[in-house]
Amino acid sequence: MSLAVGVIGAGVMGSEHARILRKETIGAHLAAICDADEARARSAGDGQGLVFTDPLALINSDRVEAVVIAAPDSTHKGLALACVEAGKPVLCEKPLAVTAAEALEVVEAEVAKGRPLVQVGYMRRFDPPYIEMKRAREAGEIGVPVILHNIHRNAVVPEWFTGAMSVTNAFVHEIDVSRWLLGSEMVSAQAHCGEGGDPLMITMVTDRGTIVSTEVFMNCRYGYHVHAQLVGRHGTIETAVPVTTLSNASGRHGFSYPDNWVPRFRTAYANQMNAWVAAAAGGQSCGGANAWDGYVTTSIAEQVVAALETRTLTRLSLPPRPSCYG
Ligand SMILES: NC(=O)c1ccc[n+]([C@@H]2O[C@H](COP(=O)([O-])OP(=O)(O)OC[C@H]3O[C@@H](n4cnc5c(N)ncnc54)[C@H](O)[C@@H]3O)[C@@H](O)[C@H]2O)c1
Repeated sequence: MSLAVGVIGAGVMGSEHARILRKETIGAHLAAICDADEARARSAGDGQGLVFTDPLALINSDRVEAVVIAAPDSTHKGLALACVEAGKPVLCEKPLAVTAAEALEVVEAEVAKGRPLVQVGYMRRFDPPYIEMKRAREAGEIGVPVILHNIHRNAVVPEWFTGAMSVTNAFVHEIDVSRWLLGSEMVSAQAHCGEGGDPLMITMVTDRGTIVSTEVFMNCRYGYHVHAQLVGRHGTIETAVPVTTLSNASGRHGFSYPDNWVPRFRTAYANQMNAWVAAAAGGQSCGGANAWDGYVTTSIAEQVVAALETRTLTRLSLPPRPSCYG
């Protein structure tokens, strides 16, 4: 049996998800693709799958069994709710919604449906370096974690992408991966902001006292650079710069950086898709971010945006976790 997957949004991420479904996924196929721009949908489908311009028509099509949402952030809540209503598993790109209140609506709809249907595309959980760091921490190889240093640098973004947007759209990755890597909840945050909203330095503390520092720099110019180092009482472990080439020129020896996230996380996106497909077919979780994780991440991001204004230490608050999320 091959799971029939429909992809909504055929931009940078949607085309990559469609490519992975066409070429690198076991147990599923690209059954449909939708974009407001029909030509873009057709191009991303590359001759495979039905083409839609209406995302609700794709979700409700009897030719589609599961859905990937890769349209802009503002569409996520409404489309995820439509997937839950239709009883179809959905892999929704991050963030789950643009506000915590909207993300909570998705959680409540899933709880009312009584079945886990929503996974949020926090793909670093499927990235081999992060997986190895988590394994090493859980095995006690570096002792009790005391600090997690995160770096999230992007080459260049439009002006509107800095400040609050870099928290709600970029830093959300560090919120999710830090909670997952440390197996802890964040309890406080403090944020500092450079001129024009870029870069940001955000410090959070977990319920076990681990300090999580994150630099978010959206216009670092030199390339896309994501890095994490976990410091334990007995040692450290960090992601190694993933490179395909080392160069020697002009008296220097160097690594190359990718332009954006697609080459850096290509393996993670493919691993995520394969794990989600296997879980969707078997009706069980694959360790990806669930709807509750998606809500928590958006809620913390919202509270960090408020902390950016006050520049004071903010105690993070979350409602009790529904029992179905463990
Ligand atoms: N997980 C990651 O690492 C990662 C990286 C980048 C982006 N994202 C997320 O993926 C999503 C898409 O980002 P992108 O960079 O691919 O954006 P993009 O602008 O390249 O593509 C978005 C596409 O959605 C289409 N679209 C807009 N409204 C639509 C609608 N109502 N129905 C159908 N199609 C519609 C647009 O025409 C466009 O082709 C965003 O939510 C973003 O946050 C995730």
